[in-house]
Amino acid sequence: MSARTRPITTTAGTRPFAFSEAALAECKALMARYPEGRSKSALIPILHIAQSENDGWLSVNAMDAVAHVMGLQHIEVYEVASFYSMFNLHPVGTYVLDVCRTAPCMLRGSDDLIAHLEKKLGVHCGETTKDGMFTLKGVECLGSCGTAPMLQCGAGYHEKLTIESADALIDALRARNQRTNYTDQ
Ligand code: FES
Repeated sequence: MSARTRPITTTAGTRPFAFSEAALAECKALMARYPEGRSKSALIPILHIAQSENDGWLSVNAMDAVAHVMGLQHIEVYEVASFYSMFNLHPVGTYVLDVCRTAPCMLRGSDDLIAHLEKKLGVHCGETTKDGMFTLKGVECLGSCGTAPMLQCGAGYHEKLTIESADALIDALRARNQRTNYTDQ
């Protein structure tokens, strides 16, 4: 789930961000779970909420809103958001396909799977299809090594993938055409 530190986009061209009332209440409830002075522990779930309220990615404006709500320095938010691959720092497609490429998945064919998806979708890892439907990413271990190779899309794990089952997944997602977030049940 972790990744190297990644560059953060600039505020240029990004729209203002504000939490919805329901999301703000959820953020406050999350912070209240922790003792006074320790509410920073709620940062990751709150970043997920911000991301789901910002079309699946964290603009600087969204991260700054998180910092404001939590009473944190902006850099405290940036350093966490830029570390974890589940946080997207640039606009993404309706679906983000996080394909695990760590050793156990690699030994079970993740390189071939990624190459197939790149060809099928007409993008390289890190890119979004022209129709805005799919963003393809290569990520580190997602904790499902026993069912390699696998990918995550929203909260869903798709395991023991083959070329055929990956194709079926793409077709099903395309037909559904509805964003999924990491916080979806
Ligand atoms: S190596 Fe792919 S899920 Fe662990």
